[in-house]
Amino acid sequence: MKPKKIIIAVGARPNFIKIASLMPHLAKQKAIKPVLVHTGQHYDITMSGQFFNDLNIPLPDINLEVGSGSHATQTAKIIERFEKVCINEKPDFVFVVGDVNSTVSCALAAIKLGIKVIHYEAGLRSYDKSMPEEINRIVTDAISDFFFTTAEEGTENLIREKVPVEKIFMLGNLMIDTLVSQLPKAMSTKLEFQLYDSLRTLSINADFYEKNYGIVTLHRPNNVDSKEYLTNLLLTLGEISKKTPLIFPIHIRTLKNMKDCNLLELAKTFSNLFIIEALGYLQFSHLLIKSLFVITDSGGIQEETTYLDIPCLTLRPNTERQITVLTGSNKLITAEELQTEIDLILKGLPKRRKEMPKFWDGKTANRIVQQLQLI
Ligand code: UD1
Repeated sequence: MKPKKIIIAVGARPNFIKIASLMPHLAKQKAIKPVLVHTGQHYDITMSGQFFNDLNIPLPDINLEVGSGSHATQTAKIIERFEKVCINEKPDFVFVVGDVNSTVSCALAAIKLGIKVIHYEAGLRSYDKSMPEEINRIVTDAISDFFFTTAEEGTENLIREKVPVEKIFMLGNLMIDTLVSQLPKAMSTKLEFQLYDSLRTLSINADFYEKNYGIVTLHRPNNVDSKEYLTNLLLTLGEISKKTPLIFPIHIRTLKNMKDCNLLELAKTFSNLFIIEALGYLQFSHLLIKSLFVITDSGGIQEETTYLDIPCLTLRPNTERQITVLTGSNKLITAEELQTEIDLILKGLPKRRKEMPKFWDGKTANRIVQQLQLI
């Protein structure tokens, strides 16, 4: 029988981490022929290349090289270029991942050509349309044909939105598959980083090791695009760093904003606040495992910390990943609450995971490949 041709469409950092564990499983069987398309939404070595290297992801068969731009520009460019790919490749299915601009754009181009769309990580809802990702999720789910959810909450949200139940498959979490499979390699990766405030490097040594530092990652427009808010946040982080060292691998967007607002100078005044280059997957995972807590606005890190049972303080008013709050080690907080929450953690009273979410077991890629053969 002719193999089913499936385009796997990715574009941004969290997409790469998710498909990293799927690609080797797809390569092992003959029923499916995958074609990997990178939209080029993320293109720098720190945002894209080092994830492909760290995670041994095969080089994309096609790169649309759309680059950065306003949401409308980026989305429009991807739709236009991905449509051509679909016309040339004539896939049986397009598999889109997560909630980034590449997800919704590729789904839209494909479905208008009558190609069936599978949305992995379907059904997550924050019910906050001020975040572009929420719009991407709603639109992608409104037009997809098959829905692979990562947790029961995704399935329940879709059923509430009248998606036929036979189109929804709760298969688990690929991000956790990648974490499980990469843990040994991550643990043997050296923790040595370039600091942004000087030419020094930071080597994590015995003083830092084993639950003696916090990690900060921030990149959401709500947290990093306003000068006043970002300055106050940095001052709060500076105060916290006097109690426990903070390591802050900085996203390109945040770095640009901090440079524009001269905030790197302010950060330098806190000797235990270490702003470092954006990290690849292996270094970051190693750093994460050894950390005492994480302050973040990332979606993926809310899931990874729940798996690892590391206290996670999420600087957002809501989350589409409710399960990490309901059963995991994640807490939603405001910048004003940060100091109090850190004090609780330092007193040995952090929020702990109550239960591991179903199918966050490292075997999701297997289940997805089996399901792909059935639909
Ligand atoms: C995107 C996703 C977000 C995800 C995040 C992970 C959307 C709407 N947002 O946000 O959900 O959590 O990726 O990182 O899809 N830039 C570079 N080099 C790059 C990529 C970006 O310099 O390789 C700069 C550009 O100035 C760009 C800015 O970073 O304008 C933001 O990049 P963009 O892809 O628009 O959004 P992210 O903030 O990365």
